[in-house]
Amino acid sequence: MDIKWVLASDIDNTLTGDRPALDRLRTELEILREKGELFLILSTGRRLDQVIDGFEDEGIPVPDAVVSQVGTEIFLPPFTRGKAPLPVWHDMLMEDFSREEALKVLHGVEGVEMQPEKFNTPLKVSCYLDGAPDPEAAVAEIRRRLKYRSDGLCQVVWSSGRDLDLIPVAAGKGNAIRFVINLQGLHADTILVAGDSGNDRSMFDEFQRGIVVGNARPELLQLKKEHPIPEFYFARESSAAGVHEGLLYFGVELTTAFLKEE
Ligand code: GLC
Ligand code: MG
Repeated sequence: MDIKWVLASDIDNTLTGDRPALDRLRTELEILREKGELFLILSTGRRLDQVIDGFEDEGIPVPDAVVSQVGTEIFLPPFTRGKAPLPVWHDMLMEDFSREEALKVLHGVEGVEMQPEKFNTPLKVSCYLDGAPDPEAAVAEIRRRLKYRSDGLCQVVWSSGRDLDLIPVAAGKGNAIRFVINLQGLHADTILVAGDSGNDRSMFDEFQRGIVVGNARPELLQLKKEHPIPEFYFARESSAAGVHEGLLYFGVELTTAFLKEE
């Protein structure tokens, strides 16, 4: 499939946070999709049922694919509650991951609080670290423990000073989006990613062009120091307005320019 743009966007605090701005952005994205110019991927830490809630309650656009649970699950339309994730991605990740082994890495780290069961899956071990005496030191300890294992058990995804996920090395938003693009045989002129926090980092590592929204967390703003190049656009505006600003920057033809006056 030949397409002008692929946009892979995070949901929370990248699309959400400013409903009127999201409504405007959604209208623009829908027009581009109707013209056959855009393939939209939502790439999120949420579960699929939370994404579907978002279509209904938060004005989140219905995309062409959903990468959920921090890139451990992929869904293609139709998006229905209780649907099983794409088996080929799930089975491939399961081959090299052991939830039990990943849990051992967290054992004894002070202040680890497991996230509710519904956010913990066979492919994703998730906890909170904001109650740790020193969350950054706890993350460093977890990373250190993994470094001394030679088996590439899992990768650490650290977001927003609170959430820590252990997921298969081959998972993550960036890898899952690449898989969708290959699976769908997409030939896009330009692939853009958009995000605000640590679990979006793998998208910026995998793809060349991206939008960091104005309200981004320090761990993603870090990209500015590493890549002071125009291919990563650091928006002035927050959330959906920042994504909109970024799309204009990269030359996506939108019908309305609604940037706030200086
Ligand atoms: C979402 C997920 C949570 C994860 C976080 C950061 O909030 O529900 O499990 O830790 O994203 O990736
Ligand atoms: Mg986010």
